[in-house]
Order: sequence, then structure tokens, then C-alpha cells
Amino acid sequence: HKKIIITIDGWSSCGKSTLAKQLAKELNYVYIDSGAMYRAITLYFLRNHVDWTKHKAVDEALKEITLDFRYNEHSKQSEMYLNDENVEYVIRDLVVAEKVSEVAAVKEVRQFAVKQQQQMGEKKGIVMDGRDIGTVVFPKAALKIFMTADNAIRVERRFKELFEKNPNVTIEEVKNNLEMRDYIDSHREVSPLRQAEDAIVLDNTNLTMKQQLEIALRWAKEKI
Ligand code: C5P
Repeated sequence: HKKIIITIDGWSSCGKSTLAKQLAKELNYVYIDSGAMYRAITLYFLRNHVDWTKHKAVDEALKEITLDFRYNEHSKQSEMYLNDENVEYVIRDLVVAEKVSEVAAVKEVRQFAVKQQQQMGEKKGIVMDGRDIGTVVFPKAALKIFMTADNAIRVERRFKELFEKNPNVTIEEVKNNLEMRDYIDSHREVSPLRQAEDAIVLDNTNLTMKQQLEIALRWAKEKI
């Protein structure tokens, strides 16, 4: 079997990472969560009061940032590390989600992340999810999936996830955050979120996790 690159892009909270993880496991591929990298950079900027509207400040700050994914034997997942600190859980916080799309729209930030993402794909055998993976990071990927789902379903899914960690979170906050991120992500100047011409759409509004995995696996096997 030949190894391929599979990209999964789409709107916020469509279940991209759930599918990407399962697909990678089935195929024995590496899963990379590109959004975690933008979240970790945002966390660093917030903690260190970096003004991301200033090019010089961003350049200086990026020099201080080392990102890597490390496999956790207990959770059986790869987790995001920022300068040797495990930030996998803090980066999911709404405080980070409120700013990540602004940070991810900065050209220097994208160059920094995209370069590392492309290196991770050099050996193929990878599933990466994000917003610009099929359009910019791996334009030649063998399989590109573009995920979507009804807004209400997405809000509900993300709310449940965040509520488990923080019972103070409201459905309104989650809804506003998703709408804001989707708007900024699809309207930014540098590599906006859009469907690649050769991507296949997967609308999972009415699919179970098992069903969506079966569909994606079938597509993958046609390419491998
Ligand atoms: O995938 P996730 O929702 O964790 O991504 C968080 C944010 O990171 C997105 O809303 C988007 O602003 C940014 N992002 C991006 N490009 C990617 C992945 C994520 O701009 N490839």
C-alpha cells in the first residue's frame, strides 16, 4: 500500500478532529491537529502580552516559541506542547478560542505554522485537519475532505464539550464564538477557509460518528 496525505478542512466544530483521529487510527497514520498549533501560539501571545497587530512584536515572539506534538501513553493521543509544557487542555479554553482567529489571520503566524505542518507531511501517511490544509498546506494531497454540518448541531456539540469542563459557559457564548471564528476564518486575506476545488464534501448533520468514518475510509481506500 502506498501512503497518502489526507486533509480535512471545514467550519468550526464540525467534528473534523474526531473524524481525523479515527481515520488515522484505522489507517495507522499520524494525526496532526493544525488548529492546536494556532491555539498554542495564541496562548503564548496572551500570556506574554504580545501585540499581534505589530509585525515586529510577532516576529520576536515567534522566535521564542517551540511547538511539538508528543504521544501520551495514557490518553493514547498526541498532545500539544508549547516550549516543553503540555498545553493540550488549556488551549481548548474559550479564552483562547476568543482570540485564536485574530492571531491565525496574521501572515507571519501562518508562515511559521504552515512551514512546520509541511515538514510533518514529508513522509506522508498523515491526516491533518484545519482550515487551509487542502488549499495551502498540502495542495497536492491525494484525498481532501471538506466537512460541514448544520449550525445548531455544531453549537450543541461544542457546548456539551465545553460545559463538561466549565459549567459556567453559556450556549450564547459558544454560538457567538463559532460564528465569529467562521466569519474571520473565511474572510481573512491570507489563506482564508474555503473548499478546495478537488475536495469532497462531507455533511455530517445526520450521520453518526461510525457512519462518517465508514464513508471517509471508503474514500481513503480508493486512493491508497
Ligand atoms: O480547529 P480549531 O477549531 O481548533 O482551530 C482554531 C482556530 O485556528 C480556527 O478557528 C482558525 O482561526 C485557526 N486555524 C487556522 N488554520 C488552520 C487551523 C486552525 O487558521 N489550519
